[in-house]
Amino acid sequence: MKTISFKTLGCRLNLYETDALTSKFREKGFMTDGDFETSDAEIFVINTCTITNQSDKKSREYINRAIRKGSLVVVTGCMAEQYAKKYFSNNTNVIVVDNKHKNMIYEIVEAHLGGEIVDTKNLEGDVFGFEAAKETFHTRSIVKIQDGCNNFCSYCIVPYVRGRAVSRPVEDILNNIKSELAFGFKEIVLTGVNISKYNYDGIGFEDLIKKILEIDGDFRVRIASIEPDDFSDSFVELFKNPKLAPHIHLCLQSGSNSVLKRMHRHYTSEDFLEIVEKFRKIIPDFNFTTDIIVGLPGETDEDFGQTLDVANKICFGHIHAFKYSRRSGTLADKMDCQIDEKIKNQRSKILRDLSEKLSTDYLNRFVGKRQRILTETIEDDGFVYGYGENYVRIKMKKNNEIKTNEFYQVIITKIDNDCLEGEII
Ligand code: 5AD
Ligand code: SF4
Repeated sequence: MKTISFKTLGCRLNLYETDALTSKFREKGFMTDGDFETSDAEIFVINTCTITNQSDKKSREYINRAIRKGSLVVVTGCMAEQYAKKYFSNNTNVIVVDNKHKNMIYEIVEAHLGGEIVDTKNLEGDVFGFEAAKETFHTRSIVKIQDGCNNFCSYCIVPYVRGRAVSRPVEDILNNIKSELAFGFKEIVLTGVNISKYNYDGIGFEDLIKKILEIDGDFRVRIASIEPDDFSDSFVELFKNPKLAPHIHLCLQSGSNSVLKRMHRHYTSEDFLEIVEKFRKIIPDFNFTTDIIVGLPGETDEDFGQTLDVANKICFGHIHAFKYSRRSGTLADKMDCQIDEKIKNQRSKILRDLSEKLSTDYLNRFVGKRQRILTETIEDDGFVYGYGENYVRIKMKKNNEIKTNEFYQVIITKIDNDCLEGEII
């Protein structure tokens, strides 16, 4: 029996695709190995990311390490097209599979092991052609609903590597979710590149969520990363349904209107604050987590100060701080006034410190309140860990009755570093 090991870099979409592939290889009789570091597998799949220079570098390192470790290496993901084809086309132990054909990696590996030389150009790929994952390495099940992006934010390489926006058929999504629930998953994370733009045959994002919420069963749905769009009142009202987790990862990118304009983001910081208010009017503790880029060309201290102000006002549950990274072919790469790395580092550190402070402030709101934890792991420190509906990490003292992957209503008694402690009600 052959062993295959996966290394996933980057976003949730990559995680979803790796989960689906792992599950397929397992079903077909392969041993799958989730730990790249200790793995002595014959075959490695490196699912790469190219969002920043740092992601490129990490992806390259993993590819090179996999080449030293295994007899066959499949390089896929957003860096595959641009980088890997160029550097590994002569290495017969490396197969490069672009995003469009990622769903065919099992067939490609089988053909290669059977001695065929596979040219993906002759294969019909499908960015939605993944089967529901039966077993994954995490508690929550990620479901892809959309791929690609038409926004072309000035700094971003994604539209060039994932292509234009496409939406997955509604029935496929509903069936995927039903399968995941039947496999025993209790939390579904909806993911894509630009999911608020979902539209399949006139069914938009809001309608899709309504259909998902109509599925029977005790489960909850979480919306992963989403762009700040015109969310209608009826969309916001959907969050009154306990099946829809009161948390969204809403990408701010900057709190300065002039930076937002140069980023080609089509909202102002005031619009963003308005969205947040709209949600918190209905659900006061609604969790907003976000991505912020520091050091876009021309970003001044004042611009950065405005970002900090907005972040403070919103009290984000978590901020993912990105240092602006030049991506060849994007508009921002050609802009004047590129920012010194030292300043980017300083701003990034300030933002990360603020994120820690705000995250603690946010967690403090929950002491004395209820959450419904979905348990994930039982640790040696005597606690069971999981996440509440607001995507706050919670632990509770373990006992013989508490199991993993179960919901429990808890009352939050205290906060311990970045974690809440609760007691079952
Ligand atoms: N440099 C730094 N961060 C970037 N992101 C996208 N492109 C770049 C870039 N060139 C960040 C954005 C996005 C997240 C996935 O990656 O914040 O939301
Ligand atoms: Fe990139 Fe902007 Fe599209 Fe997000 S919305 S993937 S940041 S181009």
